[in-house]
Amino acid sequence: MDANKKTALDERARQILTGNDRGGYTVPTKNLYPFQWNWDSALVALGFSTFDLDRAWTEIETLMSAQWDTGKLPHIIFWKDDEGYFPGPDQWGTDRTPRTSGITQPPVVATIVRRLFTHPGNAGPDRAAALVEKLDRWHQWFADARDPDGTGLVAIIHPWESGRDNLPDWDAPLSYVDTSGVGDYQRRDTQHVDADQRPQKADYDRYMALVGFGRAVGWDDAKIAADCPFWVADVGMNAILRRAEHDLSWLADAVGLPDIARRAQERAERLEHGFEALWDEDLKGYVSRDLRREGRAKDLSAGSWLAFYAGQVHPAGAERMVALLGEWLQQVTYSVPSFDPGNPLFDSIRYWRGPVWAIVNWMIADGLMRNGYAQHSETIRSHTRTLIAETGFYEYFCPLTGRGGGGDDFSWTASMWLSWATPLPEELGS
Ligand code: DGY
Repeated sequence: MDANKKTALDERARQILTGNDRGGYTVPTKNLYPFQWNWDSALVALGFSTFDLDRAWTEIETLMSAQWDTGKLPHIIFWKDDEGYFPGPDQWGTDRTPRTSGITQPPVVATIVRRLFTHPGNAGPDRAAALVEKLDRWHQWFADARDPDGTGLVAIIHPWESGRDNLPDWDAPLSYVDTSGVGDYQRRDTQHVDADQRPQKADYDRYMALVGFGRAVGWDDAKIAADCPFWVADVGMNAILRRAEHDLSWLADAVGLPDIARRAQERAERLEHGFEALWDEDLKGYVSRDLRREGRAKDLSAGSWLAFYAGQVHPAGAERMVALLGEWLQQVTYSVPSFDPGNPLFDSIRYWRGPVWAIVNWMIADGLMRNGYAQHSETIRSHTRTLIAETGFYEYFCPLTGRGGGGDDFSWTASMWLSWATPLPEELGS
């Protein structure tokens, strides 16, 4: 890429982050997502760390300040009112200060805190040490509330917890959710973005039914574990938590908290063991499972390749998955589509049913690199760079044409540009 173009895009990416900064936290994009989102914020900290490390730490500290006393870190924090988003605090009914949603999101925070801690400009262990205890409580909450039988697989209770909202993996488990009590409601997302890029009404009815269920049981973890109609082991969530436990263990050791390091290591080992139950011999990869009904996802998704991000994939499985990734990439122009491009349910522009997401690309590429697949990793990085440079800082991209979709001036896309897609390989943090 031409150096002037790169300089201009770097500047634009920094402007997006500072423009979406609402004072201590960053919105994913204006209008469509006007609050602080859990994994968005964590991933945005990487972008800030390239030009303002202090601000990167603050992003995480603000997020963690909304942790519940149960240990849960909610997926949205409603720091200020905004009528432009639905469902707002009244629908969640969590009755807390600050006001939050009732569900969580993929726990990337520990992995990001490790990156901030090892950043060459970092001043010392204090800020990381202050977060380690909170991270331990959040991760322990996953073990207690979402894997009460100690199987080594944690469940999600809403597709939004996966962060990959309308992935075809959820179609079957969602079909059992009773929507008869949902009533009328007005969506706001389709006022900001074309309806053909967003989940459909049938999905939304089920999303709202699950919000209603959580509200009705007062977001009580035991009642949710016993009765929530949606109780699914998402391959992405489990992979991200496994990686986060390893990073937390490393961090706790580094800041002199050996008890936490040991606990995180034990949880990581349990998750490692449980993860193998997601392997599907017919599909030749790891897939999500409906834990209520013993159903399995019918196809691989981008989340399947997060197995590499989680840790070491055993060599036979790794070779088969990498071969399959190659087959996917022959069917699209840009990697990695969020769902199998050969499946009839693939939809190249509808949110998580096909589009490419820069943050998922980062995680997959990071995992491939750590598992020894440097060339595949670099291909994904260069596709991400091209998509953003040619199209803009969109929420996601069509894998066939490169067209941008969803929100524009998107914080985590800007963050990935600055922290991963464009630095020279030797500048990339570990
Ligand atoms: C939305 O509103 O689409 C979000 O993804 C929920 O977290």
